[in-house]
Amino acid sequence: MMKPWDTRYSFSLLILLSSIIFLCNGQDYGMVGEDGGGGGGDEPPPEMASCNGIFMSYSFGSREREYPHVKNVTAQSWAFKATAMIVNAGREELKGWQMFVGFRHKELIVSATGATPMEGDFPLDASNGTTFIGSSNPDLKTSIETAGDFTQISTNIEITGTLFGVSKAVTPMPRTIKLTNDGWECPDAKRKGGNMHVCCKRNPKLKTKTGPKTKFAPRRYGDLNIVYDVLQSFDSNYLAQVTIDNDNPLGRLDRWNLTWEWTRGEIINTMRGAYTYKKDPSECLYSKAGQYYKDLDFSQVINCQKKPAISDLPPEKKDDKVMGKLPYCCKNGTLLPPIMDPFKARSMFQLQVFKLPPDLNRTALYPPQHWKIDGILNPQYKCGAPVRVDASPFPDPTGLPAVTYAIASWQVVCNITKPKVQASRCCVSFSAFYNNSAVPCNTCACGCNDIDTDTCDAHRNPLLLPPDALLVPFENRTLKARAWARQNHMPVPKKLPCPDNCGVSINWHISTDYRNGWTARITVFNWRSFAFEDWFVAIDMGKAGPGYENVYSFNGTRVPPNNRTIMFQGLPGMNYLVGQVNGTNPIRDPAVPGKQQSVISFTKKNIKGLNIPEGDGFPTKLFFNGEECALPKHFPKKSSGHRRGISVLMSLVFATMAAFALMMD
Ligand SMILES: *[C@@H]1O[C@H](CO)[C@@H](O)[C@H](O)[C@H]1NC(C)=O
Ligand SMILES: *[C@@H]1O[C@H](CO)[C@@H](O)[C@H](O)[C@H]1NC(C)=O
Ligand SMILES: *[C@@H]1O[C@H](CO)[C@@H](O)[C@H](O)[C@H]1NC(C)=O
Ligand SMILES: *[C@@H]1O[C@H](CO)[C@@H](O)[C@H](O)[C@H]1NC(C)=O
Ligand SMILES: *[C@@H]1O[C@H](CO)[C@@H](O)[C@H](O)[C@H]1NC(C)=O
Ligand SMILES: *[C@@H]1O[C@H](CO)[C@@H](O)[C@H](O)[C@H]1NC(C)=O
Ligand SMILES: *[C@@H]1O[C@H](CO)[C@@H](O)[C@H](O)[C@H]1NC(C)=O
Ligand SMILES: *[C@@H]1O[C@H](CO)[C@@H](O)[C@H](O)[C@H]1NC(C)=O
Ligand SMILES: *[C@@H]1O[C@H](CO)[C@@H](O)[C@H](O)[C@H]1NC(C)=O
Ligand SMILES: *[C@@H]1O[C@H](CO)[C@@H](O)[C@H](O)[C@H]1NC(C)=O
Ligand SMILES: *[C@@H]1O[C@H](CO)[C@@H](O)[C@H](O)[C@H]1NC(C)=O
Repeated sequence: MMKPWDTRYSFSLLILLSSIIFLCNGQDYGMVGEDGGGGGGDEPPPEMASCNGIFMSYSFGSREREYPHVKNVTAQSWAFKATAMIVNAGREELKGWQMFVGFRHKELIVSATGATPMEGDFPLDASNGTTFIGSSNPDLKTSIETAGDFTQISTNIEITGTLFGVSKAVTPMPRTIKLTNDGWECPDAKRKGGNMHVCCKRNPKLKTKTGPKTKFAPRRYGDLNIVYDVLQSFDSNYLAQVTIDNDNPLGRLDRWNLTWEWTRGEIINTMRGAYTYKKDPSECLYSKAGQYYKDLDFSQVINCQKKPAISDLPPEKKDDKVMGKLPYCCKNGTLLPPIMDPFKARSMFQLQVFKLPPDLNRTALYPPQHWKIDGILNPQYKCGAPVRVDASPFPDPTGLPAVTYAIASWQVVCNITKPKVQASRCCVSFSAFYNNSAVPCNTCACGCNDIDTDTCDAHRNPLLLPPDALLVPFENRTLKARAWARQNHMPVPKKLPCPDNCGVSINWHISTDYRNGWTARITVFNWRSFAFEDWFVAIDMGKAGPGYENVYSFNGTRVPPNNRTIMFQGLPGMNYLVGQVNGTNPIRDPAVPGKQQSVISFTKKNIKGLNIPEGDGFPTKLFFNGEECALPKHFPKKSSGHRRGISVLMSLVFATMAAFALMMD
């Protein structure tokens, strides 16, 4: 069994230092670790001394078989320990280092000291590799400016985790290690036994944009950008301000719910512009903070949870003297795309944080980790770790043309992740004038987790429907679907397909198709009990996109920069998509969804080879409130010998039904 490298860590660094001095003296370096630690890993490889850039290494420590013990080698899991190291052996400071470790044995990283993963939380699925960033030491200074202080020029990462399926004779090493900071390049990592190392150099060709020089890592921008600014700091507490900016043209959140994790026992004493879900004085009293702050009135403390859940205040609290009175707050957790309303694209709140020993120092500031943000129907976001950035400037409160800076600022970047199949929150149905059946939303488009799949089939395609069946809730469609199948000689399975379970569904109907153009009708259905204020739908029409001409009952805007996506929102006064209500006679009539509908016209000018029935007339992507909706797997087909009379009749029926339903609202 190999001994982990860390015990000799400082010793190795000493050797590095002396070897650098040797090099400076023009001496050769050849004594230490001749075999590059092949298998033994006793000494750092000599390459470390000859590296004048960023040196990185990865050493496998040990592994132990985990339960359950199985015969199948592929399925056997092992607990493992490994050590990674990053050293700045160059003459240039490295800010915000990012070390990629190309794991490949279905590794699950359980902990890593000195580093946090750039994305996600521990335990972390690292089967495709993962990028670590520094937690305590995000920037690596140079030997020159620190007089060789290794605590400042290097970081040692102790990794523990689980890996799968490697027979005892093989040392499970990652595929590669590399530095992924902009402007740096690494040769292939060299491996010897249980050690691997690489020396990365600045790429002279890749000039990093020399923007304004920053003390900390430069700010990055993703879909949702959160800044944690410390505005006032005292020995035992500080005031922080959180600013959430939506920077994606289709990004959106409703009733956002933000959670994070305190890592140093902090509690939230007061809050302005937002609130936490749980206020539990007894939890506070028994916490570490409760033991330390003996004189604090914990009945007034907002929250002592390790992972508080924070939400925006409703508009009624906007002018509340205690909780409100903060710009950009109190919008019920709505963050709109900036092109809809720049003012509603930002949220803000403040909190007073109480710290615990050993952090009772005005300069001991640690932001919370593991940020997550979600809403009720919106894109799904994945947030990175907080990164220290240069302090945010604010206009001076006195109105003088001066700038006030925050004491310290961190940035959290969250990006939209595409939902996994069957995890959407909205779905689309297709219909067309040339086919009398509508293709409904996919079975389980929004998941079937809570449904007893004994009663329905989660894997079967949905039954084709008569268009008017799309107007009633799924549970009331069965009769119509059966009758339709009988009438059209379509088979009906014994076990019917499961519902789509989506709160919002959108019907895309092709109404006309003529020589120079075509039209479609879009209908948005809200099956939930609450309304969506300032709703929007965005479509990506693929090839047909440039032909978008007009929308009649909505406000349509092309989304820059490439203008291929078109966004529709309600005209003033029509910006509410109401919720589902009971039928006029609940016993006889099924529930009625909230609806919004419009016709959209397109031209075929300058677009070659457009074939509407073959699929060009259907959106390639459709979003509701920023969430990408599940599209059906099939298009309504145009039969060779279809009779126009029937479909005209059917669209008339549908139009009448729709008009009737709208009148009932
Ligand atoms: C061994 O386990 C793997 C992964 O669990 C599985 O894919 C494979 O079929 C199993 N092989 C045998 C022979 O059981
Ligand atoms: C790893 O990559 C594969 C193929 O790109 C992808 O299907 C899989 O979801 C990825 N796994 C993780 C945990 O990201
Ligand atoms: C917000 O998140 C917390 C914790 O995850 C959860 O308990 C709560 O129900 C969520 N609230 C809403 C409105 O989603
Ligand atoms: C704010 O959200 C709550 C639910 O969290 C809802 O009941 C209320 O109607 C909303 N208020 C407004 C003005 O939208
Ligand atoms: C339509 O939406 C755009 C972008 O949000 C907005 O600038 C414009 O004022 C709206 N037009 C009408 C008539 O509401
Ligand atoms: C506070 O922290 C700074 C820097 O970490 C340190 O120099 C100073 O001595 C500390 N003050 C106290 C009172 O511990
Ligand atoms: C988010 O996207 C931006 C721009 O595409 C990228 O620079 C950033 O690294 C991403 N962040 C995360 C946490 O995925
Ligand atoms: C998108 O539309 C805007 C405004 O109409 C225009 O300035 C811009 O050039 C267009 N971009 C492309 C790629 O067509
Ligand atoms: C809708 O009908 C159900 C029973 O069918 C009833 O419990 C509920 O109160 C009704 N809701 C409204 C808003 O009338
Ligand atoms: C619609 O379905 C619900 C739930 O299955 C049922 O309670 C209701 O009676 C049905 N309404 C009609 C008109 O069939
Ligand atoms: C309508 O489209 C569906 C789905 O593509 C297809 O199965 C059906 O045969 C079509 N009906 C007619 C009458 O063409």
